Amino acid sequence: MTIKDHIKHRFAAIYNTPPVAVYFSPGRVNLIGEHIDYHGGLVLPVALSIGTYGAYSLRDDDEVRLYSTGYSDYPITINLGDLSKDSFTGWANYVRGVFQVLKDEGYHVPHGLNLYLESDMPTSGGLSSSSSLELLIIKMLNDIFNFGIDRTKMAVLGKKVENEYIGVLTGIMDQFVIANGKKNNALLLNTNTLKFDYIPLDLKDYQLVIVNTNKRRGLADSKYNERWNETMGALKTLKNHFKINNLTELKSSDLPQIEKLLDPLLFRRVRHIITEQERTLESAMLLKEGKIEEFAKLLTASHNSLRDDYEVTGLELDTIVLLLLETGAIGARMTGAGFGGCAIAIVPKEKVEKQAPLVIDLYKKVIGYAPSFFASDSSDGTHELK
Ligand code: GLA
Repeated sequence: MTIKDHIKHRFAAIYNTPPVAVYFSPGRVNLIGEHIDYHGGLVLPVALSIGTYGAYSLRDDDEVRLYSTGYSDYPITINLGDLSKDSFTGWANYVRGVFQVLKDEGYHVPHGLNLYLESDMPTSGGLSSSSSLELLIIKMLNDIFNFGIDRTKMAVLGKKVENEYIGVLTGIMDQFVIANGKKNNALLLNTNTLKFDYIPLDLKDYQLVIVNTNKRRGLADSKYNERWNETMGALKTLKNHFKINNLTELKSSDLPQIEKLLDPLLFRRVRHIITEQERTLESAMLLKEGKIEEFAKLLTASHNSLRDDYEVTGLELDTIVLLLLETGAIGARMTGAGFGGCAIAIVPKEKVEKQAPLVIDLYKKVIGYAPSFFASDSSDGTHELK
């Protein structure tokens, strides 16, 4: 059975009616350019072939019935007239948030829907399951009600859900690549101008490996906002000394002067932002030129900077990255917000199969539970499965 037929079948079993259409919305990994999308920096993410599937049928009242495999035994109800947050069904707030933001932006949803959701990616695992869900709902509603929202605007609306409804001060990277991703390509995005280029993702004799640390990311949102506040504070100070709008406009050569202006902790935060921006630009060039070994080294350098200067890794991510490197990876790093979640590695193809059981075993010895390896290809942005 194809995945589309499976979803149609499940939908019909729950709602006693066939769905009108089935959609797929990817997850994402970021190859490099971490924690710089809220500073106008360059990022290099990839949309994944694992993600969120969804199907809908129309209702003639103003109720949205929402069923999600893994989260609910029966559909929950969201009333279009009351889109307030609900802490008992936190996962559904990403859907409530989409309806709220569309309403605030003047897009009128005239009646309700039956929605079915199913995911084959880890939730809260750092592959941006939340943005994947937001974009899925936005794209569906855009198609159903002919809102005429283009893919960049869809990403902007998804970010609004995250920032204004959910309350996490994220940048636009995740929503943007989920909306605009292209199979077999990474996307080099300038988060200041929202201009982007596709960079062919050809790793030659190597494979991109994705591993979830399986660490619960309890305080991730508040820690994320803490880094946001620290670095925005640093920006305010540095604006008095440099003609800049964003920290990513600074250069490594400015670091000696910056060190005199900031306390040591803020200096390290800013050093990460500046060096990460430089690594990302170089990575995009190396990837284009097919210099995979050099590219992989920059991934490891990025991890070290996120560990030592930005301090968003933690024992689980540091352990997994170390183990991946020790068992054959030529480069590895955390991906996404950090504080748990996933790591990526560039591994020679012939070593991939043998590596996973080794890493699982060693990680279990250090951390006490197993990590999960994911097989995922790249994918196009959120789309209907025709
Ligand atoms: C999360 C956010 C992104 C980005 C990354 C870190 O995934 O949603 O906007 O800031 O963390 O690079």
